[in-house]
Amino acid sequence: MGDILRMKDAREGRTLKTQTALITGPTSGIGKQLAIQLAKKGYDQVLVSRNEEKLIELSEQLTNKYGIQTHHIVADLANPDSIEKIFQETKMKGLEIDVLVNNAGFDVYAPFAESDWQANERLLTVNVKAVLDLTHRFLPLMVQRKQGHILNIGSIGSFIPGPNNAVYAAGKAFILSFSEAIAEELRGSGVGVTCLCPGAVSTAFADKADVKNTPLFIYTAMDPEAVAVAGVRAMEKKKRVYVPGWINKIFIFLYRFFPRSWVTRISKWAMARQGT
Ligand SMILES: NC(=O)c1ccc[n+]([C@@H]2O[C@H](COP(=O)([O-])OP(=O)(O)OC[C@H]3O[C@@H](n4cnc5c(N)ncnc54)[C@H](OP(=O)(O)O)[C@@H]3O)[C@@H](O)[C@H]2O)c1
Repeated sequence: MGDILRMKDAREGRTLKTQTALITGPTSGIGKQLAIQLAKKGYDQVLVSRNEEKLIELSEQLTNKYGIQTHHIVADLANPDSIEKIFQETKMKGLEIDVLVNNAGFDVYAPFAESDWQANERLLTVNVKAVLDLTHRFLPLMVQRKQGHILNIGSIGSFIPGPNNAVYAAGKAFILSFSEAIAEELRGSGVGVTCLCPGAVSTAFADKADVKNTPLFIYTAMDPEAVAVAGVRAMEKKKRVYVPGWINKIFIFLYRFFPRSWVTRISKWAMARQGT
């Protein structure tokens, strides 16, 4: 899409400007691979996460290998003040964000009745509220410039309830619904929205939530690079919703023909830890 936007700029006689992507959670997994794919396409980047050491390491890697400009902002998205900090830092640096990638996220795995309330609150703040807040700040500027893209990371949990991941899956369902709704609001505005909905992906996510030993992860986990390549391609093609991987595609096609209670039971089985 960077190339498409640059051609559009040239046609309209504007000064050619490198596009800038802001990515949350680029220090690991899907976010890191998205940063690499966007760097390959020449996007300058603003990298946002909690781990400064990893942010500096990735910034240097991307600058040295792909010759792009990078900035990093250390922020804990579980802290609601962090969004204002991110917005002000980009403003102070005079950065225009052309692509906002809302990727940072994590899972809380437990039956809801036994789950830790603070962990649920943190999950909702990072996986949902930060996505809305960042979008609400950067989107009006994209609309003004009549160009830009929001890439939100959903999940196959966006379509299907997640027993033992109830809050996570409900949060991802929110992200899918929100993304599709604003994509329609933005029709014809020059600003696109894509919700990338992966199934299981081999990243630190599964270790952190201790769900690596579940049928979904054992049998269907994808490589994060493949997911990121598909995500950037979906964004370039301006797809509103994209499910990477053929097993996930088949499942997301078929699930609508079965009673919802069956699908929810299958979802519980797929995310059941083996041998416990
Ligand atoms: N892996 C899967 O199976 C899977 C499937 C479907 C969807 N997803 C979604 O894909 C996205 C990326 O997940 P992943 O698999 O790549 O996980 P990951 O490898 O654990 O990476 C998560 C990223 O989010 C950042 N992050 C987490 N909490 C944060 C916070 N409070 N503030 C700022 N940054 C924070 C982490 O950075 P720091 O630790 O440096 O802060 C890290 O860079 C998530 O939205 C996840 O829900 C994952």
